[in-house]
Amino acid sequence: MSNLLAYLEQQQSAHLEELQDFLKIPSISTAPEHKGDVLRCAEWVQNSMKSIGLENIQIFPTDGHPVVYGEHLHAGKDAPTVLFYGHYDVQPVDPLHLWTNKPFEPTVRDGKIYARGAVDDKGQVFMQLKSLEAHLKTSGKLPVNVKVLIEGEEEIGSVNLESFLRKHSSMLAADTVLISDTAMFADEVPSLCYGLRGLCYMEITVTGPNRDLHSGVFGGAVANPANALAKIIAQLTDEYGRITIPGFYDDVLPLTPEEREEYRRLPHDEAAYCKELNIPATDGEFGYGTLEKTSARPTLDVNGIWGGFMGEGAKTVLPGKASAKISMRLVPNQNTDDIAKKFAAYIERIAPPTVRVEVTNLHGGNPAITPTDSKGVRAALRAMERAFGKKPFLTREGGSIPIVLLFQTILNAPVVLMGMGLNTENLHSPDEHFTLKNFYRGIIASAFFYDELAK
Ligand code: BES
Ligand code: MN
Ligand code: MN
Repeated sequence: MSNLLAYLEQQQSAHLEELQDFLKIPSISTAPEHKGDVLRCAEWVQNSMKSIGLENIQIFPTDGHPVVYGEHLHAGKDAPTVLFYGHYDVQPVDPLHLWTNKPFEPTVRDGKIYARGAVDDKGQVFMQLKSLEAHLKTSGKLPVNVKVLIEGEEEIGSVNLESFLRKHSSMLAADTVLISDTAMFADEVPSLCYGLRGLCYMEITVTGPNRDLHSGVFGGAVANPANALAKIIAQLTDEYGRITIPGFYDDVLPLTPEEREEYRRLPHDEAAYCKELNIPATDGEFGYGTLEKTSARPTLDVNGIWGGFMGEGAKTVLPGKASAKISMRLVPNQNTDDIAKKFAAYIERIAPPTVRVEVTNLHGGNPAITPTDSKGVRAALRAMERAFGKKPFLTREGGSIPIVLLFQTILNAPVVLMGMGLNTENLHSPDEHFTLKNFYRGIIASAFFYDELAK
C-alpha cells in the first residue's frame, strides 16, 4: 500500500497532464456538430483503458453515441466483481463569454482545473481509471474483478443505455456498481450519496394567431400566447410551493424520521448559502429544510422561456407563439413516464380555449435510492474514511443519473455513489472546475475501495 501511495505521489503531474488531454475534446453529446468529437473522445477512453492494462476493450456503437467497455477479471471466482460506470460526454458550454479560460482549453488556477467536464464527469472517470492503473502498475493485479463501462449519452438522458444493459446483461453482470459522478457534501466533508432524483423534462408551446401582430391593433381581442403561457406556468405551483398537477405526489416516498434526523446533523449554514448565491432568501415547499428540498422533495422549474421580441429596447408586438422548457425533479417512487402523462393532461385542462397548446416530453430518468448497508457501500465508507481521515456522511442529492435505477433492476446490483466533486464547482455552468486535491485523494480513496471490498 505504501508502494501504491508513493507511486501516486510520483505520478501527480503526469496524471494532470493526461487529464488535460481528455478535457480538450469537446464531447458535447447534445450537439450534432460535435458527433465526431464525441467519437474521438470514446477512442481516447479506449486508448486510456488499453494503456492502464484493461482487457477485452471494445467500443460499442449505439443508435446515438458509443459506449466504451473494458475489463480485468483475474481476481478469481470468489472475489467480487465491480462494474464502474461513468460518462465521457459533457454539457454545452454556453454562455461562452462568462468563461475565464476557454472551456476546452483546460487551465489550472489556485489548485483547481477549469474546463467543461472537469468534474462532470471526465475528471472523476479519469480518477477511477488511474486508481485501477495504480494497483496494476504497483502489484500487477487488482484486488477484485473489475468491469468498466463509460458512456457518451448521460447528459442527454442515457437514451440508448437501457437496451444496451439488457442486451449485454451477462457481460456487465456484477456484485456492485461503482459510480463517481456525484458530489461530496462540502469541501473536507466527505460523504457517500445514497439517493438521486429523477427527471421529467417537458416543453410547452403555446400558439396564438398565425403571425406576430401589432399589439396596438390586435391586443385586447386576440389572446397573447406569452400571457397565456405565463398564466399556465403560474398555475403549476401554489402558495405553499406545492406542485398542483393532480396525482403528482401520489408515489412520493416520504422522508423517514431517521432520514430527517440525518439531514439535521449535516453542517448547513442557511445564511452562508444565501450569501454565496447572492439571493435574499431561499424558496420552495413549505415545511422542509433547504437540503431536503434540494434532494428528497420533487420540484418544478422553468429552464427557459421565450417568445415575442427579445432584443434590446421596445418593439410593440403580440407574438404568435411562446414556449417554455419545464423540468420536474422526481423522487422515489415517482416514475418519469407517469409524471409526463399527468403533466400533459393537466396542461390540457388548464389551457385557455383561445390558444392552442402543445406539450412534448424531451427526456427523463427515474429517481433512485441505493441500499446503505450493501457490502459495496460499507467498503466505500471505510475507504473514504481512510482517505479523508473522517467518517463520511450519507446524503441524498438533487441531480439525476438516469441509469442508476436500471443497474439495480436489470443487473440486480446495488450501486455505490462515491463522488469527489463539490456542488460549488459549477457543473453545467461557466468555469466548471475540479479541486485537484480532491481529484488526487479520489484516486487514493478509489484504490482503497477495491482493497476494502476484497476483505
Ligand atoms: N453528474 C450529474 C448528476 C449529479 C450532479 C448528481 C450533481 C449529483 C450531484 C449528471 O451528469 C447530470 O447532470 N445529470 C442530468 C440528468 C440528465 C438526464 C440530463 C441532470 O441531473 O440534470
Ligand atoms: Mn455527470
Ligand atoms: Mn451532468
